[in-house]
Amino acid sequence: MAALTLTACSANHDVVATRSDSATSLTQPDESVDSVPTTDGAEEPTPTDTASVPPISLPTTTTQAPSEPDDPGGLVPTADGAGDLLYPALGNPGIDVVSYSVDLTYDHDARALAGSVTLVVMPTEDRAEFTLDSSGPVVSRVAIDGVDAVFESGDPELRIAPVTGLVRGQQVEVRVEYTATPDALARGVFPPTGWFNTIDGSYVLNEPDGTRTWLPSNDHPSDKATWNFSVTVAAGVTAVANGALVSSTDGPNGTTWVWREDDPMPTYLVMLATGEYDLVEGTGPGGLPLLSAVLSSDRQKVQPYLDSIDDQIDFFDDFFGPYPLDRYGIAVTDSLGGLAMETLGRSLFSRSDLNGDVGYLQDLLLSHELAHQWFGDAVSPLSWQDIWLNESFATYAEWMWLEHAGLTTLEDEAADSLGQRQASTGSPTGSPTAAELFSYNSYQGGALVLHALRRTIGDDKFFSVLQRWVSENNGTSRSTDDFILLATDVGGVDLTALFDDWLYADILPAAFP
Ligand code: ARG
Ligand code: ZN
Repeated sequence: MAALTLTACSANHDVVATRSDSATSLTQPDESVDSVPTTDGAEEPTPTDTASVPPISLPTTTTQAPSEPDDPGGLVPTADGAGDLLYPALGNPGIDVVSYSVDLTYDHDARALAGSVTLVVMPTEDRAEFTLDSSGPVVSRVAIDGVDAVFESGDPELRIAPVTGLVRGQQVEVRVEYTATPDALARGVFPPTGWFNTIDGSYVLNEPDGTRTWLPSNDHPSDKATWNFSVTVAAGVTAVANGALVSSTDGPNGTTWVWREDDPMPTYLVMLATGEYDLVEGTGPGGLPLLSAVLSSDRQKVQPYLDSIDDQIDFFDDFFGPYPLDRYGIAVTDSLGGLAMETLGRSLFSRSDLNGDVGYLQDLLLSHELAHQWFGDAVSPLSWQDIWLNESFATYAEWMWLEHAGLTTLEDEAADSLGQRQASTGSPTGSPTAAELFSYNSYQGGALVLHALRRTIGDDKFFSVLQRWVSENNGTSRSTDDFILLATDVGGVDLTALFDDWLYADILPAAFP
């Protein structure tokens, strides 16, 4: 492993005071944050308390909302889809979503959602009608720039015919009003995806195709957008989504929580949880804002995990480049054990995994989802066939962290995984089936591809590939071919045989290069 100098940086976690997050706040959050739960009754800091927080050093290439349409790369759209070979119904031709404003009320007793989503859409071609992905929502009205449109609420496509058609390059605002009673576990799909109702609240785990079950959207990783969430829940309940807390306002129907995510995000990385959460603020390397959501009942148990975030970011940024997004944090929810998800800027974990124990499993999960923020979140896959671009890096990073933590060695992990991969009957890592997205060959198999690449081009060039992959592509969705081109460019050698042998082969070579 490359010997890089690590600098220690102490974590400093405070119970939330989101008003200090003024850099990303929408409107006068000082006045509007009025019911943030605290665990110890600590007063929210005044603006002067936070004046000494060092400015966040953002990487130069990031965090602008995309002004150009997202690059569809090699995708060839079909009649109703983006051209994803594994999920043909996902995505919608002719549109690029610029932003989403999700405005929902969640009635936990009825397990029901009601509200609207407003999408700012940039047409990429002239069209008389277009579709959105929707599989379950009951749509009552669609309006384009305030004018009612004709629509047909099908499953999995919501068909919309504007009174005047879409014109390429002329942005429109599409408002969809709907209700839904989503229930991921009742869908009978494995792994279950979408909206999960829990005893005290709810959470979403969308990857790969669950978002459309509760939100009409362009549900494909090739389309990134900025997001606003306004979620109304019963008084005393907290709603948490990606990004910064803008406001929390008590009203006659409960409390409305407004969150804003400025880093471009595809649908599958949405996090939205409701329940009895505490919001815990901290500061990471270089002043990076940390904001985590933990169930009040778990507040003490999760402290070791909150404390580990800073060290892990500090470790990874030496290898992968500066943390690529506006903020980080974890959400520890009442979700299915064994499952974690790299929801953008705030990864999702199960309280049955982060249960107070500190060991191999917790280090593995925390490092894996954190590494995804560089690989998967900052740079997302262009299509679901490119899933190894997410899971390989996250698994490799997990090995790096576990070695750093003294829990294993990377060489042992790689050797063991190569042995198991030899016995795998799955499809090649570079061409999975839909059922194999989250399989051994994507995770460990993908990490083996990276290890073989590292052995071939050497440590310096290998980490240069990883850093350039993120710095040059942050905010976009990229394909496997894009990665091979970059690796070849940095490596300075023809890597065709390497990728044929390790990424596209059924049976891997007996030993690393
Ligand atoms: N991307 C997640 C991870 O590796 C796994 C998500 C699995 N998806 C699912 N629907 N269970 O961290
Ligand atoms: Zn992963």
